[in-house]
Amino acid sequence: MQTYNLAVIPGDGIGVDVTAAAMTVIEATAQRHGFAVTSQQFDWSCAHYLETGAMMPEGGIDTLRTFDAILLGAVGWPETVPDAVSLHGLLLPIRKAFNQYANIRPHRLLPGVEGPLKAKDFDILCIRENTEGEYSGAGGRVHQGMANEVAVETAIFTRTGVERILRFAFDQARARRGHVTSVTKSNAQKHSMVFWDEMTRHVAQDYPDVTMAMMHVDAMAARMVMAPESLDVVVASNLFGDILTDLGAAIQGGLGFAASANICPDRSGPSMFEPVHGSAPDIAGRGIANPIAAIWSAAMMLDHLGEAAAAKAILTATETATGQGIGTRPGQQSTDDITTAILTALETQA
Ligand code: NAD
Ligand code: IPM
Ligand code: MN
Repeated sequence: MQTYNLAVIPGDGIGVDVTAAAMTVIEATAQRHGFAVTSQQFDWSCAHYLETGAMMPEGGIDTLRTFDAILLGAVGWPETVPDAVSLHGLLLPIRKAFNQYANIRPHRLLPGVEGPLKAKDFDILCIRENTEGEYSGAGGRVHQGMANEVAVETAIFTRTGVERILRFAFDQARARRGHVTSVTKSNAQKHSMVFWDEMTRHVAQDYPDVTMAMMHVDAMAARMVMAPESLDVVVASNLFGDILTDLGAAIQGGLGFAASANICPDRSGPSMFEPVHGSAPDIAGRGIANPIAAIWSAAMMLDHLGEAAAAKAILTATETATGQGIGTRPGQQSTDDITTAILTALETQA
């Protein structure tokens, strides 16, 4: 029997609840679809940092390398550990170390979910560059605390990095409705984004069957609210993609519905699957986090591992549950109740 070995990093806050929910669903699905899952849980988190002085132990990346995939909840507990420490100590190094340069984030309304917009019939796939750009970590501060203090954050865009994410996006569009919108800001950013636009035009030449448009990120933010159904694949740099995918989450009913896959396309290392949302300190510990984003991310993981039927089964079961009004309104049902409804829908599938 095919067995997948998963590294599970629940992390902080509601990350713990939603990964537990996702694991229950994965295990139930595995039984029904004839594969097995083994997993090892890592308690790498802000609590771990406070105990040990590190978000993950030395050699943590090498430990993760041996797994087929990583399931992550959320990282960050700003009350005790600065975000710049926790995120640069765990989540961001994993994305970089395993060359998970393609971050896939789908935005559409599940049945029964109202969403804040009049538009209901949208299906956007955001492809976010995940390893460089504004998140390169280059820069520094001088004259700290002085009147002439300067902080510099250098965005680094390489030809390799930009070309591969654009190709990834155009490939995705081929398997969908054949349209890519490339997010830019070349009216203000005259180096990185002018280069991004040039690369977009260059790559588009190899995809005559895909239509392409370029849109400034500010206009894109408006478009996602005013006419989301006009969008198919949206490709964006690391920071622009980060911001637009929380907007995407909002139009699909909230962060509890937004799934995400950090893909290492050449499979030289494991890919990582996690909801778009964070640790949600405002609702943590109350058992009311929506697990659907994490469960949908788990489905993306099974799809990536080659278990397309199992992935589809999870998504269908989730749609059955939301179609019955389960999990569609914040706080109405508990994390456990939503998970149970999805498990029930899974078990009663033909
Ligand atoms: P957040 O995503 O944690 O929360 C934003 C809002 O959305 C909150 O009101 C929260 O209650 C709500 N929310 C989020 N997920 C939900 C769910 N599943 N069900 C119901 N409501 C949900 O963003 P934040 O408050 O800016 O960040 C909190 C911490 O998480 C910070 O430390 C931040 O850096 C970190 N963070 C981590 C990740 C990650 O690990 N991938 C992502 C985003 C933020
Ligand atoms: C996300 C998160 C992270 C990001 C943070 C927590 C560093 O917001 O996955 O969207 O910006 O990538
Ligand atoms: Mn984000």
